[in-house]
Amino acid sequence: MTNNFFNKSFVTVNGITPEDVKAVCAKADKMKALVEKQGGSDELKGKILGALFYEPSSRTFSSFITAMQRLGGGIIPLSGMGNTSAAKGETIADTARVFSSYADVLAVRHPLPGVPAEIARHSSVPVINAGDGTGEHPTQALLDTYTISKHLSSFSELTVGLIGDLTNGRTVHSLSKILALMGVRKFVFISPTVLAMPAEIKVTLQSQGSAVTETDDLAKTIPELDVIYMTRVQKERFTDEAEYERLKLSYIVTKELMSHAKKTAVLMHPLPRVGEIAQEVDSDPRALYFREQLKNGMYVRMALLSLILKTQ
Ligand code: NCD
Repeated sequence: MTNNFFNKSFVTVNGITPEDVKAVCAKADKMKALVEKQGGSDELKGKILGALFYEPSSRTFSSFITAMQRLGGGIIPLSGMGNTSAAKGETIADTARVFSSYADVLAVRHPLPGVPAEIARHSSVPVINAGDGTGEHPTQALLDTYTISKHLSSFSELTVGLIGDLTNGRTVHSLSKILALMGVRKFVFISPTVLAMPAEIKVTLQSQGSAVTETDDLAKTIPELDVIYMTRVQKERFTDEAEYERLKLSYIVTKELMSHAKKTAVLMHPLPRVGEIAQEVDSDPRALYFREQLKNGMYVRMALLSLILKTQ
C-alpha cells in the first residue's frame, strides 16, 4: 500500500482517499497488537513530537503523547501555551518556525479554525490538526471510523446518526466527510434547529451521493440507526450563557432510550460527556466510548505518527 502520509501535514480530511483511511486502519491494527504484546517499540527513536495545545484537551493530548512514547520517540508536551512566548505576543508563524526547529512533527490544537493549517505553512516539519475550533478534528474522525469498522462491516449499508451540537462540534464535521468517503449513504443529523450541521458539509456529503435527513427528534429516529454518535453542546463556543443552558441537555441517552435501538447498533461519543449519556448506559455492550474509542485513539495516532515519520 502506498503511504500518502509520509512527510506531509494532516490538517483536514479533505483530499484523503479511502485507501489512505484503510492504510491507517491496517497500521492501527498492528499498533494494537504491538501494544498488547510488548507495550511498544523503538521505531520512532530519535524523533520528537511537539504537542502545541492552545485549548484544553484530555484524550487527544494524552493519546498523542503516549503514542509517541510507545514508539520510542520524544515529546515537547505543551498542554496550554500560556508558559510559552505565545503569551508574549509571538506570532503563529514564528511559533511554527520555533517548534519545527526542535521537533520532527507537530500536533496542534487551537480555538480558531485554520490555525493548524497556518502553522503548517510556516513549519519545516509536518503538522497534524488536533482540533481547530469549530473546524475539524481529523484524527478523531479516523479513530471513530476505525472503531466503527470493527463492529459494522459494510459502510454502504449503514445509517449513521450524528447527534447534538452539529454546528460547533468539529468531530462530526470531519467524521461525516470520512464516512461518506468510505461509502456511508445514509446520514441522519439530529440537533436543535439552531445547532444544525453547516450547509457546506451537507452539500459535500450529498455531492458524494449520500442522503442527509435532518430532525430534532432522537427518540423517534433511534430505532433506524446503526451508529448513534452523541456529542456535547460546545459551551466554549457560546457567547450567550442562557442559550447554552437552554440547549445543553437537548438529548440524553438513557437505558430506556437504548431499549429502542438496534441490538447491533454502536453508541459512540468523542468525550467529554456532560450529561448527554446517562451513566447507566455505560455497561451496555453497544457503548464503545470507554471500552474502545479511548484506546483506539492511541493506536490510530501511533499509526499516523509512524506513517508520517517513516517511509514504511
Ligand atoms: C472533542 C473535541 O475536542 O473536539 N474531544 C476530543 O477530542 N475527544 C469533543 C468535545 O470536546 O466535545
